[in-house]
Amino acid sequence: MTAKREVIASREVIAKRSAAVAVVTAAAVFYLGMPSAFAQPAPVKAQACVACHGPEGNSQNPALPSLAGQPRQFIVTQLIMFREGNRKDPQMSPFAMGLTNPEVNELGAYFSAQKLAPPAKKQTPEQASAGKRLAEQFNCNVCHGATLLGQQHIPRLAGQQAEYLRVQLRGFKSSTRFDMDGQMTSAAQAIQASDIDVLADYLASLSGP
Ligand code: HEC
Ligand code: HEC
Repeated sequence: MTAKREVIASREVIAKRSAAVAVVTAAAVFYLGMPSAFAQPAPVKAQACVACHGPEGNSQNPALPSLAGQPRQFIVTQLIMFREGNRKDPQMSPFAMGLTNPEVNELGAYFSAQKLAPPAKKQTPEQASAGKRLAEQFNCNVCHGATLLGQQHIPRLAGQQAEYLRVQLRGFKSSTRFDMDGQMTSAAQAIQASDIDVLADYLASLSGP
């Protein structure tokens, strides 16, 4: 009798747990599936982001990332990782903490729909070909897209701020930047420190479509 009751109890626990997992999964699928037209006009929460990420998500500080033109799924995933404490940053984390799932989705849709400003710095043909050669050698385009504009959960690199790219690449190489599936951490291992500088300046000089 007791044994039977225990079996029933543990079945209930399992059922409750799988129901919770199903709810979380359904929510994620639902929010990611919303149309991007949902973004207009600028969400109220986007006003706070401008202080660091620049007007319409175009950063004016080489150390801070632009959000304009990033894939929606990338922005959504990163905000959730900051909110859940997987990715941490003393400046950024507090702004992700209180966001609800609909707000995260709205912010992702809004910033991905903004046009990325033209790059601040141009390169000489020699600098550009050295950067291009490294990007090809390390297959950056295989994941980040043919013209490095990003796709799905993978960020756009073209036109991103140089200093930010440099710091993140160093972070992946030393495993201090959180990486959802480990792909970028392993991609960064073979890159030399001196190549990181060449790559960061090259990527920052690329413009959009
Ligand atoms: C006080 C400055 C500050 C504010 C305000 C701020 N952020 Fe950030 N954000 C940062 C910094 C710094 C980083 C880079 C953190 C790192 O180096 O890991 C960042 C990173 C991000 C990233 C990841 C970008 C990438 O390319 O990896 C996203 C997405 C983001 N912020 C969205 C937002 C949104 C949306 C808001 C408004 C709700 C916001 N941030 C407000 C400072 C800020
Ligand atoms: C095997 C796939 C893969 C390859 C190859 C790859 N990346 Fe990535 N990269 C990713 C993924 C996935 C992310 C997002 C990681 C995360 O935040 O979870 C990423 C993130 C980044 C970021 C962070 C940008 C941001 O806005 O936060 C930089 C910088 C970057 N990659 C540069 C490069 C460069 C440069 C190369 C080539 C030298 C490269 N990647 C090759 C998959 C790849």
